Amino acid sequence: MVDGQAHSRFLSTFDEALNVAIIGASGGIGAALMNVICRENPRARVHAFSRRQLTSIPDNAISSTIELENESSIAGAATRVFRQTGELDMVFVATGLLHDGEDIEPEKSWRSLNARSLEKIIRVNTVGPALVAKHFLSLMKRDAKSVFACLSARVGSIEDNRLGGWYAYRASKAALNMIIKTLSIELSRSNSRAICVGLHPGTVNTSLSKPFQGNVRPGKLLQPENASMTLLTVVDNLTTVDSGKIFSWDGSVIPP
Ligand SMILES: NC(=O)c1ccc[n+]([C@@H]2O[C@H](COP(=O)([O-])OP(=O)(O)OC[C@H]3O[C@@H](n4cnc5c(N)ncnc54)[C@H](OP(=O)(O)O)[C@@H]3O)[C@@H](O)[C@H]2O)c1
Repeated sequence: MVDGQAHSRFLSTFDEALNVAIIGASGGIGAALMNVICRENPRARVHAFSRRQLTSIPDNAISSTIELENESSIAGAATRVFRQTGELDMVFVATGLLHDGEDIEPEKSWRSLNARSLEKIIRVNTVGPALVAKHFLSLMKRDAKSVFACLSARVGSIEDNRLGGWYAYRASKAALNMIIKTLSIELSRSNSRAICVGLHPGTVNTSLSKPFQGNVRPGKLLQPENASMTLLTVVDNLTTVDSGKIFSWDGSVIPP
């Protein structure tokens, strides 16, 4: 900051009393997004959705349950938000599945492809966020900027795929990216100030990345709090021309 200049407020392109829904608030990145927004914006109200009710959350967060593999659970979540809060400034879909510590793990070869893992990963990473959009996009604020953001991943970029492997996860995120682009086109017709994007958080120290952190170069593993701050800065800088794109944590656009 230059001496004498006031700090601009965190999330300054949104109302101070912003209303947020975070789907996947029990996850490493989802929890950090909730904690950072609640701490930096004491007047914010955060609807924190997870499969199990959360016990330790900030005072300005409300915990509630959701199951992405059950559409009526998603519809019920949207109805509760609308009744309690009305319109939303931001929605984050911070859920995701890469491995389950049992039989689902990223494929190293086409020989490991199996229908059950493919279907499960696509259900959680693609179908779930699409159904969240179906039920939550009509709740986005209309008279000011609003952002619907899904956590995607760089490995969902077809152009960027140089290493191969990780078939199901890559495919689920590539399909998610197409859903985001398509949503953005329709959304622009009904809510001209709403923005729909995908976000790549970098490699973040969470249970999702844990088994693969050995491949990360020293100093490149982000902590969830830092990753959330950078993602929120990206979201703060978004304008409607950005809708439909996939952004990396450093603000650069990831090619489809
Ligand atoms: N960490 C990274 O390095 C990294 C890199 C690139 C992209 N991403 C993306 O960032 C997002 C968040 O990842 P993370 O690292 O925070 O992972 P995480 O700590 O494993 O959190 C995953 C979240 O998804 C929820 N979830 C999984 N299946 C669900 C279902 N059927 N219904 C409802 N919730 C479900 C989990 O709920 P439970 O707590 O109930 O299991 C948890 O809240 C994901 O989309 C991931 O692909 C992460």
